Amino acid sequence: MMVDEQAEVIKNKRLIDGVFLMTLKSSEISGSFLPGQFVMIGLDVAGYDPLLRRPFSIAYAEEDGTFSIIYRIVGRGTKILSESKKGKRLAIHGPLGKGFDIPDREMQFVIVSGGMGIAPLLSLAQVLSRDKRSYEFLAGYRTADDMIPVEDILPFELKIRVSTEDGSAGVKGLVSDLIISSLKNTKEPDKGLMIFSCGPMNMLKRIHEIVELYNTPCQVSVESSMACGMGACQGCVMPAARGDARYLRVCKEGPVFWSHEIDWVSIS
Ligand SMILES: Cc1cc2nc3c(=O)[nH]c(=O)nc-3n(C[C@H](O)[C@H](O)[C@H](O)COP(=O)(O)OP(=O)(O)OC[C@H]3O[C@@H](n4cnc5c(N)ncnc54)[C@H](O)[C@@H]3O)c2cc1C
Ligand code: FES
Repeated sequence: MMVDEQAEVIKNKRLIDGVFLMTLKSSEISGSFLPGQFVMIGLDVAGYDPLLRRPFSIAYAEEDGTFSIIYRIVGRGTKILSESKKGKRLAIHGPLGKGFDIPDREMQFVIVSGGMGIAPLLSLAQVLSRDKRSYEFLAGYRTADDMIPVEDILPFELKIRVSTEDGSAGVKGLVSDLIISSLKNTKEPDKGLMIFSCGPMNMLKRIHEIVELYNTPCQVSVESSMACGMGACQGCVMPAARGDARYLRVCKEGPVFWSHEIDWVSIS
């Protein structure tokens, strides 16, 4: 159920440099969202700057009627958000957008995150864990310093295989290389394999190239700048690969797409 309400900040704490966890109270959102969906959060400033609400993926929900986001400070809006104290009320609108499509049939699921792209994938892992579905979770970072210690904060158990570009933690290399080993070493090839991913666009583009080679279905959650978050302004579009539409609205048709729906060639 989509709501527009003032939600209380239950927690807003620093996880690593520049990255925060915020927990908000909203039993409507925590009880109804689908993994991959997002909320628009108002910044509660005096005056009109910044005016627009900012989009954030729902990272996980808890039984006490709260949900959490994990966010990085990149500009004025996220800086203001990081200064929100416990007890403050923020305007939230959601859950919005299209979430991940989880097939009923048994498949081998591989979840692949790059950097902050881990946020929407945590809610997917939470639902798969709740439904006792098995999956592999791969997380790529540039260095060990960028690693977000999600295992310590989640209300469910999550085992993550980490890769770092400089080898300072986990396997050295790009997380997309780990997918290739998962694809090559599929234990139960008859079951079929599905990839779910979120991260920087160049990483998603590379993953799309890999899944095309291995003929493997893949869903990606993408980001773009958003104004309305509700399909009205066309400010968030991505080039479409095929079909009637030339563009896809990330807030309405996404943020989760099948990787073959996006025209990766047009994305630099
Ligand atoms: C569906 C969706 C889910 C998101 N989920 C998360 C999340 O879980 N955690 C998180 O940290 N961030 C998430 N983001 C990105 C987040 O919304 C932006 O970082 C935030 O709006 C920036 O606001 P700001 O005022 O701090 O920065 P601004 O001052 O608006 O911008 C600062 C810089 O960041 C760039 N930027 C702003 N927004 C985006 C964007 N959406 N994509 C790429 N670059 C951008 C700008 O071009 C600029 O260079 C999500 C975005 C979308 C569309
Ligand atoms: S943000 Fe307005 S159409 Fe997507």
